[in-house]
Amino acid sequence: MRIFVTGASGHVGSALVPELLHNGHQVLGLARSDESAKRLTDRGAEVVRGDLDDLDRLSTAAAAADGVVHLAFRHDLMVAGDLAGAAESDLAALRTIGDALAGTGKPLVSTSGTGMLAGVVKDRPGTEADFSDAGGYRIDAENLVVSLADRGVRSSIVRLPQVHSELDHNGFVPSLIRFARRNGFAAYVGDGSNRWPAVHTLDAARLYRLALESAPAGSRLHAVQDEGVTFRTIADAIGRGLQLPTRSITPEQAPEYLGFLAAFAAMDNPATAALTTELLDWHPTQPTLLDDLAKPFYFEEDQTLNTSR
Ligand SMILES: NC(=O)c1ccc[n+]([C@@H]2O[C@H](COP(=O)([O-])OP(=O)(O)OC[C@H]3O[C@@H](n4cnc5c(N)ncnc54)[C@H](OP(=O)(O)O)[C@@H]3O)[C@@H](O)[C@H]2O)c1
Repeated sequence: MRIFVTGASGHVGSALVPELLHNGHQVLGLARSDESAKRLTDRGAEVVRGDLDDLDRLSTAAAAADGVVHLAFRHDLMVAGDLAGAAESDLAALRTIGDALAGTGKPLVSTSGTGMLAGVVKDRPGTEADFSDAGGYRIDAENLVVSLADRGVRSSIVRLPQVHSELDHNGFVPSLIRFARRNGFAAYVGDGSNRWPAVHTLDAARLYRLALESAPAGSRLHAVQDEGVTFRTIADAIGRGLQLPTRSITPEQAPEYLGFLAAFAAMDNPATAALTTELLDWHPTQPTLLDDLAKPFYFEEDQTLNTSR
């Protein structure tokens, strides 16, 4: 299939492009800069030049493709505190892509986060069957994508937990490491017993490909390998890697010490992928989060505090 991929130049895209190419697909990646375009051509993809907010460009590229994977996200707005703006840009892109694919039966695989379940599910791990109608960040986008199944799109949603690997330069873990370097300690909120699920980038990319090839219309999928690693364990691993102490902070101190991650740091978000495994025969095979945090690569990065993701 000839697949249009937004966000192909990003972290997850850097694994998805080769995953698609090695499995016989062609990739057209959206690139908003010369640098991103070069990253794509170096990986063997074709380039569609344009911005996520250039809806005409998205529409044309989606209509010409055999399927679409949507990974791009305005993290610049999210980090600046404009989560509503980031969510609206995501929705506008998805409405446009949905209109372009309506009635074709072509696949659209879009992206959500397991984090949306933190406010939905209590006292048990979240599953693919859990969703919300309450509205808001990620929730509206998920529900829009699922509703496209009724308009003749083979749509599916992949909920990502924190994604880790040597391909990860600006995600949750590098950001936590940069904050720890700046603070002089690895922070966790309260007793740090809250849990984050996780997946390796290569396993996540394989799930996107499987979803593209065969997920039933309207599927919600979980790219979850580690069902829930306590935040305290993550902070301890970062402290070890940086040879810095680990310290508890209060929720009120989280914005000061963890910046844009403050909202996520105290989140208790265990999640399972049992339904995804059953549906698509997806079995993660790559190292776990703690395996990766025990290796040197995350701690060899530059020491600049990156606030742009
Ligand atoms: N990584 C995780 O741990 C994680 C967890 C949960 C959910 N997610 C979600 O998964 C998706 C992919 O994440 P990621 O880690 O791959 O993110 P990433 O590394 O930050 O990549 C973001 C991608 O979006 C593109 N992009 C951003 N703004 C754009 C714009 N205005 N126009 C065109 N392209 C634009 C970027 O292009 P440039 O290369 O030009 O910057 C890049 O290709 C995102 O929706 C993210 O929120 C990720």
